[in-house]
Amino acid sequence: MRKSGNRIVSKARLPAGLALAACLCLPATTAMAQVDPVGDGKRIAQKWCINCHIVEAGGSRGGDTAPPFTHIAKDPATTPERLRGFLVDPHPLMPNLDLTRQEIDAIIAYLQSLAAE
Ligand code: HEC
Repeated sequence: MRKSGNRIVSKARLPAGLALAACLCLPATTAMAQVDPVGDGKRIAQKWCINCHIVEAGGSRGGDTAPPFTHIAKDPATTPERLRGFLVDPHPLMPNLDLTRQEIDAIIAYLQSLAAE
């Protein structure tokens, strides 16, 4: 009797507890899942592109075998479509980095942010 009573109580509490948990977690999860494509793109660039490109605005760290990212970003011929096409199937001089769609989006966002620098 007592047991089932407890169960009822705990069942009744559950939704409230869940709602509370959802409330508490929501800001955290949205913050974690929050898309920061520019930041992601920068991290990817610093990891994968820096050997050949200067990847930061005004930066000096990076390879000089390829145009700096700010240069590419400010080129009027650089459109998101063109970048996407390029990154999905990179130039022969460039290794195929097997970037995911998300990574490509992030890099595009990052490059676009550089165009405004
Ligand atoms: C091994 C060297 C190397 C690495 C690593 C590299 N690139 Fe390049 N990239 C090049 C070279 C060389 C060019 C110039 C190609 C040309 O225009 O003939 C180039 C050109 C580009 C261009 C200009 C394409 C255009 O519109 O003409 C973009 C955009 C680009 N790279 C993005 C990236 C990104 C993003 C990464 C990292 C994920 C990366 N590259 C990593 C060598 C590299």
